[in-house]
Amino acid sequence: MGPPGVGKGTQSRRMAKRYVVPIIATGDMFRRIREEATPPELAQEVREYMDKGEYVPDDLTIKLALDRLSQPDARGGFVLDGFPRTVRQAEALDEAFESHGRCVGHVILLRAPLDVVLKRLTGRWLCSRCARVFNESSNPPMMPGTCDTCGGELYRRSDETPEVQHHRLTVYERQTAPVIAYYESSNRLDSVDAERSVDEVTTELVAILNDDKVE
Ligand code: AP5
Repeated sequence: MGPPGVGKGTQSRRMAKRYVVPIIATGDMFRRIREEATPPELAQEVREYMDKGEYVPDDLTIKLALDRLSQPDARGGFVLDGFPRTVRQAEALDEAFESHGRCVGHVILLRAPLDVVLKRLTGRWLCSRCARVFNESSNPPMMPGTCDTCGGELYRRSDETPEVQHHRLTVYERQTAPVIAYYESSNRLDSVDAERSVDEVTTELVAILNDDKVE
């Protein structure tokens, strides 16, 4: 968990690679639906919410996430990025897991001040082919506009205008702060200072996960 731009996607990719598990990122799933435009009505609905910086409604998000979690490749573990981010989503996840004898054991909150996350969002570039994330100041590509890994073209997300960025942060404070309290109250939350370098944050995440005996 964490505000837009704090580094959830960056760290999720590292954790997924390290523990050889899939990343289940609702933001990426919604972006895929809107890009592929299938089904058209759903793609249009998702586009409207995302372009405004609003959350996609809970019913749709919960169904999408739980369907994905039930796929065979998620049986041995997974990294969840960006879900749950409302209390209703958190409750639905707990209920779905409990009915299968599983539980959400550990939730990690990445924290960084507002000016830091805004700077990160403003400098972000993504690869259109392999989805690798770059940053103009902290992690620039070797050749501007081109991915170091696969040579794909880099692009900016459509929800990256300054107005939408600010709105996404407001929505996060309003709707996701209660989720932090939800996990804190059941002692499942670890909070990590994500203002540090990517490598330092990764080191702390690995320490937390190893301590939790992730296999
Ligand atoms: P989503 O795609 O999840 O976006 P987000 O939460 O706004 O987060 P971001 O992807 O913008 O940032 P991030 O934390 O992943 O940062 P990143 O690693 O890229 O959601 C988009 C939309 O989808 C939502 O607005 C909503 O409409 C919808 N949605 C998704 N899930 C939903 C849900 N559950 N319910 C309802 N609606 C939902 O890093 C950012 C930049 O910083 C990069 O350039 C990176 O290189 C750099 N960086 C990262 N870490 C560091 C570091 N330690 N030091 C320096 N630079 C760093």
